[in-house]
Amino acid sequence: MSNFDARVSDSKTQITKLVFPHDTNHIHTLYGGTALKWMDEVGFLTATRFARQTVVTVSMDRIDFKVPIPEGSVVVLEGKVIRIGRTSMTVRVDIYKEDRLEGGKEWAISGELVFVSVDEQLKPVPLSVHQQ
Ligand SMILES: CC(C)(COP(=O)(O)OP(=O)(O)OC[C@H]1O[C@@H](n2cnc3c(N)ncnc32)[C@H](O)[C@@H]1OP(=O)(O)O)[C@@H](O)C(=O)NCCC(=O)NCCS
Repeated sequence: MSNFDARVSDSKTQITKLVFPHDTNHIHTLYGGTALKWMDEVGFLTATRFARQTVVTVSMDRIDFKVPIPEGSVVVLEGKVIRIGRTSMTVRVDIYKEDRLEGGKEWAISGELVFVSVDEQLKPVPLSVHQQ
């Protein structure tokens, strides 16, 4: 396995959440803004583990909400680096709905987020993976 592939594999990140009432909207399903916050969190962790550098979010691109997620559901978020540039990384984030009592996973939301590696002045710096 190449160094790049190993980093992609090692940086894959999964977070599990329970959808509480304060995470929902007026129809008692997961609020879109909450989903975006959770996606940013798992994307940030994935990019940080990949780069082992300070990263910031620069873009959240086309988020698709395919399936409503009711209050009380278990939600699984998965992040994976799918592309890198000189200073940036694109992380694909998928959200799956898991039935709390029955189990089983249904794909519900996906999106791509871009993170940039920055120095102490918050200016872009090359990813360390390019120096190996
Ligand atoms: C992230 C930031 C440092 C980038 O600065 P910049 O002047 O746009 O930097 P550059 O133009 O040199 O671009 C740097 C990289 O980001 C990428 N990038 C910039 N804007 C982008 C966008 N809207 N979408 C996707 N990628 C983008 C560039 O393609 C480049 O990638 P590469 O080096 O891999 O080729 C700056 O935009 C910033 O500070 N943004 C605010 C970040 C923030 O506060 N996030 C929320 C909290 S974490």
